[in-house]
Amino acid sequence: MKVNNIDYRTVWLEGTSVFFIEQNLLPFQFNIQEAKTYSESCVAIRTMKVRGAGAIGAIAGFAMAQAALEAPESDYHSFLKNAKTEIEATRPTARNLFYAVEKVYTASLTSRAAAVFEAQQVADRDAADSRKIGEFGNELIRDGMAIETHCNAGWLAFVDYGTALSPIYLAHQQGKKIFVYADETRPRSQGARLTAWELRQAGVPHTIIPDNAGAWLMSLGKIDMMIVGADRIAANGDTANKIGTLEKAIAAKEYGVPFYVAAPTTTFDLNCPDGSHIPIEERNEDEVLYQDGFTIDGRHERVLVCSPGSTAFNPAFDVTPAKFITGIITEKGIIKADRETIASLFNGISSNSQCG
Ligand code: MRU
Repeated sequence: MKVNNIDYRTVWLEGTSVFFIEQNLLPFQFNIQEAKTYSESCVAIRTMKVRGAGAIGAIAGFAMAQAALEAPESDYHSFLKNAKTEIEATRPTARNLFYAVEKVYTASLTSRAAAVFEAQQVADRDAADSRKIGEFGNELIRDGMAIETHCNAGWLAFVDYGTALSPIYLAHQQGKKIFVYADETRPRSQGARLTAWELRQAGVPHTIIPDNAGAWLMSLGKIDMMIVGADRIAANGDTANKIGTLEKAIAAKEYGVPFYVAAPTTTFDLNCPDGSHIPIEERNEDEVLYQDGFTIDGRHERVLVCSPGSTAFNPAFDVTPAKFITGIITEKGIIKADRETIASLFNGISSNSQCG
């Protein structure tokens, strides 16, 4: 996608370095950073400089390729095994991370060059899948619709285009008059910061709403459809996504608002029989207790926004049961969120991930 008229991907490999858009600084500063080693790429994932399922997958694949390039000849296999474990430990929920690491690790057993090639394939596939999701999802969008989204499943969360926002971009480009309600998505405010920034860059009419406003707007008939992303989808269609998604899905069902999940097939985990097996990341309480941002004169500040001395519980994701999901928009088409449909989508092929 374009930023200041220049085409960017969120993350890419050049030589032995990974370059990425530093998402913690957005929307205040647009900054490209470099990770020279696979360990530095791990830090970028852990600290959420690169975040969002597809983007995490791409940088994890590149990190695995960096490890293949760094591995000493004498100790090649054990170095790679350790690197794989380290990369997989960066964030537990996004399925794309494990998909990418497995693919690139397997390739690295053939050669270093094969690992680099495979990592690039993973990133290219992510961009292509997101584009297709846009085409299928756009078919659901009618002129005049108001669409709510949660967190950021835009192009920043993937290599390009995004998932939940990809249909919105296409509909807007085709001249459909649409309006987007972006949930702010505390505690890290990916909606208020990243989704709003993306939509503004693309000229899509939108407004940010507090996290607790969605149900009220639905009850007033102001939301025609909700589209969210996904971090992992179990074999029965239960979907892990950013914390707060579940309550939106329940409200959408109550008020008859179609609730769609947009995700590539690389986000499905057929080894997770249902959502109760999806590992849910718990992040540091400081993300809730403090907020950070930039002052008008450009200084970065971090302030305490909670009662001093209180603790906070900070689960990063929740699981929406399949029964609340109207459909899943994938790169292969829009499918029902049920076990039979998902099994036939994969033609009985199961993944290698260890769920749980
Ligand atoms: O913790 P994050 O920001 O990496 O969370 C992932 C997400 O961006 C969301 O859950 C998103 O809706 C699905 S992944 C694009």
